[in-house]
Amino acid sequence: MVGVSLRIRKCHFVQLLATCLVLSTVMVCWEELDNRVVSHVKSYSFRYLINSFTYINKSLTIPHKQARSFSDFHYLLDHPDKCANQDVLLLLFVKSSPKNIERRNAIRSTWGNESYIQNTLGVTVRVLFALGAPPTRENEPLWSRQSGVGFQEQLVEEDLLHGDLIQKDFVDSFYNLTLKLILQFHWVHSHCAHARFFMTADDDIFVHMPNLVKYLQGKSARGVTDFWVGRVHRGAPPVRSKYSKYYVAFETYPWLSYPDYTAGAAYVVSGDVAAKIYQATLALNASIHIDDVFMGICASVVGLSPQEHPYFAGEGKAPYHPCIYDQMLTSHSHVDDIYDLWKAATDPRVKQETSGWFGRLYCAVVRVSLLCRPSFVGTYPCKAALW
Ligand SMILES: *[C@@H]1O[C@H](CO)[C@@H](O)[C@H](O)[C@H]1NC(C)=O
Ligand SMILES: *[C@@H]1O[C@H](CO)[C@@H](O)[C@H](O)[C@H]1NC(C)=O
Ligand SMILES: *[C@@H]1O[C@H](CO)[C@@H](O)[C@H](O)[C@H]1NC(C)=O
Ligand SMILES: *[C@@H]1O[C@H](CO)[C@@H](O)[C@H](O)[C@H]1NC(C)=O
Repeated sequence: MVGVSLRIRKCHFVQLLATCLVLSTVMVCWEELDNRVVSHVKSYSFRYLINSFTYINKSLTIPHKQARSFSDFHYLLDHPDKCANQDVLLLLFVKSSPKNIERRNAIRSTWGNESYIQNTLGVTVRVLFALGAPPTRENEPLWSRQSGVGFQEQLVEEDLLHGDLIQKDFVDSFYNLTLKLILQFHWVHSHCAHARFFMTADDDIFVHMPNLVKYLQGKSARGVTDFWVGRVHRGAPPVRSKYSKYYVAFETYPWLSYPDYTAGAAYVVSGDVAAKIYQATLALNASIHIDDVFMGICASVVGLSPQEHPYFAGEGKAPYHPCIYDQMLTSHSHVDDIYDLWKAATDPRVKQETSGWFGRLYCAVVRVSLLCRPSFVGTYPCKAALW
């Protein structure tokens, strides 16, 4: 045993030495090298050679009392009974902003239509929208002030009609997305802890609900735990340029690389993971504003790492093609085309065209040609073609 651990340590030491050597060569020789490249090289080396985030727990843990300042907001709109007495397969929170009523309506009448899902797929899925408070009068953009009716009144009306808005009284803004993430995990803990899966997504996401439900039913039948799936970012470095909206100060996050995390566009966790993340939020300093990174921080503290599924989107739209619809789980940046895409993607002809040996062969060729072009930077990676 001692010999083995010594050998492992020695091996680590050699790896470390090699990295340092490579790094210093890179730094010295290519001084003109783009800053971003250097920070990625550093961050990848950090991720793949050191890959220990125990120090995060140590330095971001704060007393529960202080951590509560990130969750201690009041509900303006709430539906505590949404999950009660139901066998919920999936609770899906869509992160929305007060002004995005059209996006919410599009979701309600396409992939997020709960009664459609119940009737045609035979499972209970709950779709809720997570919101902060509309900006106050002074910093409200001009275009919204003319309406006369306040934003909040409009939201109350919308909620009366649909009963699916969960809103707390922190200001809804990009820089408060982590507060919104915490809202979701706290709501799940209090009101839907028995849901088998929990998902969070942007409000410009397209979810292929039939494919997703089938995928999750398979996972559920096998009783998965510690399950966290999406588009995985590995070894991503913090952005240190003050002009970026992803800028994170050294004081907030001093390390070279973030723990692995899934793109906030859409990811799914199993119920036990949601419970663990909730626990982590009770003791962590959540002042980092990038919500998916904060999710990664929580997960690393409780010892969880994400798995990749190539048909979860990071950025960008999926190619419009039946052979893609056959496999897709999520696709990003859909606003106006969501109705058409929903119709096309759930058309029964998709299954006909893509099944049988000929359909499968045809689709393999189509997928390679769509996803594996050298210049193609899109939703799904080339490996998705061979999935
Ligand atoms: C994280 O740190 C806190 C306080 O320092 C400690 O109580 C807790 O056990 C640590 N958690 C893990 C998973 O190491
Ligand atoms: C949801 O689907 C049902 C059919 O299952 C339909 O009657 C209803 O109008 C749809 N809701 C919306 C908002 O489109
Ligand atoms: C986040 O919410 C808090 C609480 O409402 C607010 O004081 C703060 O200004 C918000 N931050 C941003 C950047 O909007
Ligand atoms: C949390 O971190 C921020 C730095 O990002 C710091 O200013 C703040 O004091 C920390 N909060 C606590 C309670 O330690």
